[in-house]
Amino acid sequence: MSTFPKDFLWGGAVAAHQFEGGWQADGKGVSIADVMTAGDNQTKRRITDGILPDENYPNHEAIDFYHHYKEDVALFAELGLKAFRTSIAWTRIFPNGDEDEPNEAGLQFYDDLFDELLSKGIEPVITLSHFEMPYHLVTEYGGWRNRKMIDFFTKFASVVFQRYRNKVKYWMTFNEINNQSAMMNEWSLFTNSGIVVKPDEDVERVMYQASHYEVVASALAVQIGHDINPNFQIGAMLALGPAYPASPDPKDIMKAERAMQVNTWYADVQIKGRYPAWLRQYFKQRQFDLDITLTDLDVLQAGTVDYLGFSYYASHVVQAVADERVDFTTRDEKTEIPNPTLAASDWGWMIDPIGLRYMLNWLTDRYELPLFIVENGLGAFDKVEDGQIHDDYRIDYLRQHIEQMALAINVDGVNLIGYTPWGFIDLVSAGTGQMDKRYGMIYVDKNDAGEGSLKRLKKDSFAWFNQVITTNGDNL
Ligand code: BG6
Repeated sequence: MSTFPKDFLWGGAVAAHQFEGGWQADGKGVSIADVMTAGDNQTKRRITDGILPDENYPNHEAIDFYHHYKEDVALFAELGLKAFRTSIAWTRIFPNGDEDEPNEAGLQFYDDLFDELLSKGIEPVITLSHFEMPYHLVTEYGGWRNRKMIDFFTKFASVVFQRYRNKVKYWMTFNEINNQSAMMNEWSLFTNSGIVVKPDEDVERVMYQASHYEVVASALAVQIGHDINPNFQIGAMLALGPAYPASPDPKDIMKAERAMQVNTWYADVQIKGRYPAWLRQYFKQRQFDLDITLTDLDVLQAGTVDYLGFSYYASHVVQAVADERVDFTTRDEKTEIPNPTLAASDWGWMIDPIGLRYMLNWLTDRYELPLFIVENGLGAFDKVEDGQIHDDYRIDYLRQHIEQMALAINVDGVNLIGYTPWGFIDLVSAGTGQMDKRYGMIYVDKNDAGEGSLKRLKKDSFAWFNQVITTNGDNL
């Protein structure tokens, strides 16, 4: 028996660009997700220069939730969801990002969607920016390299906070804002910040500057939101998984500590309202000369978040390198090694349920804030047999993680407010652009080539998760 709080937010999570489709419907503009091609396990997604003919852009149609939302929300209600996490596609509201007036048709879509959810007792949990900023802001302004982005973002935030002030209580500012700390991965910088690094740029400096503008924009949004409705709960959102040291060698321990610091400083700033000491020192030593004003620092202090949302998929193992730098910063991936004690998913992600409990403890000690697991799940190939999908591997994965959540709550005293497993309805993978990397409890008939009827089918995990929710986690 596992005890979860009475009002625990059992839910499911998606993001607009990965499931809505309707990429040009009702005045929507082109987003950065719209210029990313499909890839797979071996092939990286490409970022094209605008929309090119003869390319496969999987987010354009995705699973066409835009035109199926009523039937889909009915299915979500049947699944028993109490919460539904999605994002508002910025380009439905401001198609180019720099308009004076928002697009009414885009605003109306989310009004209708939220009404539909609320009528079924499902609480919307909304991310403002989930890898889908207007592409025009990239081509005209250079993405988050540019301080002007703060104004564009806060305007977007104000409009939607105001419009949905009586419909949405839980918000998050930037999805997985810390992915870009792995700045050598061009996908991360583009999806987080709309940046493709130029040959003469120092990628690390660019990343820290963009990140700074984003944490300032986030802090301003928190203040704007609280002014509009003091009951808003506005959270940070990071991708979090422990970085374990490869051995008891103190150099590995130091390496792992620095890897955690590099990955989590965003939460330090968004929760504590200031940069951590190691990073202030690092900026000085590297002579980045970033545009960080005294006013910015006041804004960070005044705009701290109410809770920490995070995604948890995997843990990592890091190892010091022979010629270790004195600052132990992790600049590339050569320091990360597989964990021989764990199994991995078909995409090589280490499966580590206990790592989730570890993370929940670590975050509670460090931040003492309510925690919300807003993504977790297993990307896997599914097989349809006679209209059925027997995804016991997915059930096992989710069960093991929920068991660890229960331990964290009941044994460790962690304040966990909800759990919204990722992609509970199959959608386009953000990392690979695939449909066949499936996380869902609801199957969607569409393949990597974009073929299929879009029909929805319930997997075995659908009934299982429904039972988890209806017993408030007692029957796993
Ligand atoms: C997180 C993102 O990185 O993980 C989601 O917030 C993403 O957008 C999810 O889809 C799973 O990653 P992937 O690459 O398997 O889609």
